[in-house]
Amino acid sequence: MQALKTFQDCLVEFSEKFDDLAGKYVQTISHCAELEFLIDEYCTFITNERNKAAWEQLERQTSSDLDDLVADLRKKSAHCVTIMEKYRALKLLDGNVEITDYFKNIESCIEKEFGSFQIQADSKVLLVGSGSFPMTLLFITKRTGAEAVGIDIDDEAIELGRNVVKKLGNELNIQLENVSVEELSLIKDVTHIIFSSTVESKYDILDQLYPLTNEHVVVAMRYGNGLKSLFNYPMKEADGQKWRMIEQVLRPDQVFDIALYKKA
Ligand SMILES: C[S@@+](CC[C@H](N)C(=O)[O-])C[C@H]1O[C@@H](n2cnc3c(N)ncnc32)[C@H](O)[C@@H]1O
Repeated sequence: MQALKTFQDCLVEFSEKFDDLAGKYVQTISHCAELEFLIDEYCTFITNERNKAAWEQLERQTSSDLDDLVADLRKKSAHCVTIMEKYRALKLLDGNVEITDYFKNIESCIEKEFGSFQIQADSKVLLVGSGSFPMTLLFITKRTGAEAVGIDIDDEAIELGRNVVKKLGNELNIQLENVSVEELSLIKDVTHIIFSSTVESKYDILDQLYPLTNEHVVVAMRYGNGLKSLFNYPMKEADGQKWRMIEQVLRPDQVFDIALYKKA
C-alpha cells in the first residue's frame, strides 16, 4: 500500500514539475538542464520494472481519477518533450552538442524501426511529428540516402528543424513542412511512414492516409501502453478493413514500442 501511495505521489510531483518547467520556456536555453534532467528521470520512471507492479495494482482499482491523471501527465510530458527538442536545437545552433538519455533512447530505436521492411536509397519516408530536432530523419537519410519529409503542426519546430538540418545534413534530402498529409505532393510515392508517439491524433491520421497512399506503404506507429502510456499515446485498434498490424517491436527498456502496419 505504501509503495502505491509513493507511486501516486511521484505522478503528482512529475505533473507539477512539468507545469513549472513548461511555463519557463522563453525561446532561450535557460532552464534547459532542469528540463533535460526531469525528462531523463521520467524515462527511468516509466521503464522501471518496480513501477510496473504499482501501475498494475493501480489499474486494477480502475478509477476515473487515475485516467484523468494519466491523460494529464501524458499531455504535459509530451509538451515538455517538444520543448526539450527546442532546447536541443537552440543549443546545437549555439554550438553545443551534448546528448541526453532521452535522445540516446530514440536513436537506439531508429535502426530497428521497420523490422524486415528496411528503408533503402530509393525509399521515400514521411515522419508525422518531426519536431525541432528531426533526428529520425537525419539518421535515416544519412544511413540510406533515402528522400524524407517531416510534418509538424508547430511553426517554431519547423523553423528550428530546418536550421538543424542545414547545420547537420545540408546535403541530405530532407524537407520539413507545416502541412497536413492531404497537402503533401509526394504522398502517393511514400514507401515508409513513421508516427511520433506523442502525436495525439496519430490513429485518425492513419485513417486519413489510407486513400492517399500506395498499396505497398509500411507504417511504423510508435506507441506506449500500460506504464509507458504515461509518456506516449497508446496503441488503438486500427480499422481492419484498411490496416493490418504485421509486426510489433516490443522494447522493455525503451520509452516506446512500435507497431508496424500494412494495408489490409
Ligand atoms: C517529440 S516531437 C518529435 C519526435 C522526434 N523528433 C522523433 O524524431 O521521433 C513530437 C512533435 O509532434 C508534433 N505534433 C503533435 N501533433 C501533431 C500532428 N497532429 N501533426 C503533426 N505533428 C504533430 C509536435 O508539435 C512535436 O513537435
